[in-house]
Amino acid sequence: MSPVGGGMSPLDDGLAGARVLVTGAAGGIGAAVADAFVEAGSAVVASDVAGLPRDSGARATVRADLRSAADRTRLLAATAEELGGLDVVAHLAGVLRRREIDEVTEDDWDLQHDVNLKASFFLLRDAAELMRRQGTGGRLVAATSQGWWSGGYGGSSVYAASKGGLVSLCRGLARTYGPAGITVNTVAPGAVDTAMLTDDLSEQALAGIVSATPLGRLGTAQEVASAVLFLGSARASFVTAATLNVSGGWLAY
Ligand SMILES: NC(=O)c1ccc[n+]([C@@H]2O[C@H](COP(=O)([O-])OP(=O)(O)OC[C@H]3O[C@@H](n4cnc5c(N)ncnc54)[C@H](O)[C@@H]3O)[C@@H](O)[C@H]2O)c1
Repeated sequence: MSPVGGGMSPLDDGLAGARVLVTGAAGGIGAAVADAFVEAGSAVVASDVAGLPRDSGARATVRADLRSAADRTRLLAATAEELGGLDVVAHLAGVLRRREIDEVTEDDWDLQHDVNLKASFFLLRDAAELMRRQGTGGRLVAATSQGWWSGGYGGSSVYAASKGGLVSLCRGLARTYGPAGITVNTVAPGAVDTAMLTDDLSEQALAGIVSATPLGRLGTAQEVASAVLFLGSARASFVTAATLNVSGGWLAY
């Protein structure tokens, strides 16, 4: 069974043999997601603008800057060729530039919106079109952030706006591609222990987040990967247009 089916055993995830593209796979969460799909028996193409390890268990690695239309086209074509099609896109690539609000530049705005929102639209739309042509349905899972709901903390308003746009976008894509059996969902991590979170937040700021989190700690990349795998699997066959809150209760909605 492929992940796009459903209605079989609730324990059957359909991930063995599923054809999966993971973006942001050199990052903390993306690497954990790629590893988890590999462990589940999926055939994975791992992509990032940064260099990727060759021994990750992925079937292939493709270096691509998702802001480039040519790179996106090359990435989807290479993935479909390598895997013989495409069932799941786990889109983890993203950028965060923390800035005091009065210091935000147009360059900060453009970078975050180009990667997090514009590139996401064209990548996910083109992946959905590929899946629609295949006629076998599919799964699109994208990483938003708690900021989509909270507006962001610690100089991340512009990032939060891009991630809010991503949620709206994925809901629109879910409505558009639902009739083709393609589900589109987002995962909203809270504070997860990766470079993106810890690189430019003070110990004091991190401690403040932890104390506001009912589970009393940062999340791990593997915990976000579990949520992405669920949404990418047959187990989530009737879930679409959803935003899964993976924040340890930091957000409550
Ligand atoms: N870590 C957290 O606490 C947290 C919280 C909420 C949301 N998120 C989201 O989860 C996702 C993964 O975050 P992470 O913590 O692993 O961050 P990370 O910085 O470790 O990984 C992000 C990856 O995206 C890649 N990337 C950036 N620009 C790109 C581009 N133009 N083309 C292709 N790849 C590009 C980077 O090279 C990097 O490897 C991101 O979308 C992030 O916004 C993370």
